[in-house]
Amino acid sequence: MSEQVFIFDTTLRDGEQSPGNTMNTQEKLRVARQLELLGVDIIEAGFPIASEGDFDAVKQIAKLVKNCQIAGLARANDEDIDRAWKAIKVAAHPRIHTFISTSDIHLKHQFRKTRDEVLEIAVAAVKRAKRYTDNVEFSAMDATRSDWDYLCKVVAEVIDAGATTVNIPDTVGYAVPHEFGELIAYIRKNVPNIDKAVISVHCHNDLGLATANSIAAIHNGARQVECTINGIGERAGNASLEEIAMTLRTRKTSFTADTRIVSEKIYPTSRLITSITGVPVQPNKAIVGANAFAHESGIHQDGLLKAKLTYEIMTPESVGISKSSLILGKHSGRHAFRDRIENLGYILDDKELNLAFKRFKALSDMKKNVYDEDIEMIIMDEIYKTAERAKLVYLNVSCGNTTIPTATVKMEIDGNIFQDVGTGDGPVHAAFKVIKRLLKTTSKLEKFSVNSITQDMDAQGEVFVKLSEKGLKAIGKGADTDIIVASAKAYINALNRLEYMKTKKS
Ligand code: KIV
Ligand code: ZN
Repeated sequence: MSEQVFIFDTTLRDGEQSPGNTMNTQEKLRVARQLELLGVDIIEAGFPIASEGDFDAVKQIAKLVKNCQIAGLARANDEDIDRAWKAIKVAAHPRIHTFISTSDIHLKHQFRKTRDEVLEIAVAAVKRAKRYTDNVEFSAMDATRSDWDYLCKVVAEVIDAGATTVNIPDTVGYAVPHEFGELIAYIRKNVPNIDKAVISVHCHNDLGLATANSIAAIHNGARQVECTINGIGERAGNASLEEIAMTLRTRKTSFTADTRIVSEKIYPTSRLITSITGVPVQPNKAIVGANAFAHESGIHQDGLLKAKLTYEIMTPESVGISKSSLILGKHSGRHAFRDRIENLGYILDDKELNLAFKRFKALSDMKKNVYDEDIEMIIMDEIYKTAERAKLVYLNVSCGNTTIPTATVKMEIDGNIFQDVGTGDGPVHAAFKVIKRLLKTTSKLEKFSVNSITQDMDAQGEVFVKLSEKGLKAIGKGADTDIIVASAKAYINALNRLEYMKTKKS
């Protein structure tokens, strides 16, 4: 029987705080629900002291999610800890996660405190958290650049104060696997009360070693890993959940430990994060990248046709990527549609299913073959969309090589209908100019990209738009068989997100 490695997902905290990955409360709830289905043990829902919005989101997640522990982050001071508790106390299994740095670099240049002072603060913080709950995690920030003996002393004292999880973060992604493994072994050997707490690790990816370091730590006795979906996070990101979970699963015989992750939910969860943040996953990303299971070389294809085992160490199905390409069409009914959605790993309520089914019917009237990717796009576009201030009601463009591109746009803005017409250098330009005028926005278009979701001539187009305004940046996404409509949807989606960020900032 293998031991359990606890998965502490920090997509909604370390992931969300990184550039371009901001989510609103509605989106965070959607992610939390998906993480619960994925089998995550602990969800770090946010940093409640950071803002009213963060506090509210953590509280709502704490209320909603029943099968995971919900952690709230707090610096090592009374105010942060009290606030974190206020946000998470409604949870079925709340956890306070408090932290302070232990490296001399941080102590000298950032905190301007001595080692003894920091030790005292750490112990006091754990004791404060302990007044509220037995489930207290302490993180020694910048642990990998700390003096090992001082780190052991802090770890021992916070455990004495009541910490039940001690986290060893590689905050700046400085560690290398053999050395990080040795550090975990050193802590196990030199902290006398270490058996009273779970050792956790939290690795950043500055040298591309976050997963390797986490695995080295597990090999040396760590039993909690902190990670994010798609590896999103501060700077180069955090250790990626899918890589850690699939390493332990695929190389079972090399480890005495495994996670509770439902691997078939990995890909839908990855897609959900991409669709919410608009930050695409690099094609060659392990496990969830578009090319992760694509075999191009003739020799590999030949081997695969003879036996999958030759070049495939895990199946796409095992991570939730369906290979049954051609699936539904205009004659498919609601039952088949629901079935397909559930097989893809999404759970929709009846109202959401009806909405998605209506859109599927409309799409299958325009498109002969509806692929899994098309269905996913419907879910992302129709169900997982952000709260909208503005919606596209109608778009008509005339263009060609003998006419001036002209767009007529009808929109619903704050519940009222507006319409305008304008020209541009091309149909997308004309539509964007009209939308810009209707929404009176001064934002700047920074990026515009179009991808085809599937390979056919009648494929849906997926458009990403990036906007900036007064230091804020927002990404929007839209999909449609008509590329101009997809572009308009993506532009409006980005404007809605920008609007949301402006209110959050103010
Ligand atoms: O990277 C880090 O050290 C952190 C801590 C708050 C755990 O994110
Ligand atoms: Zn971090």
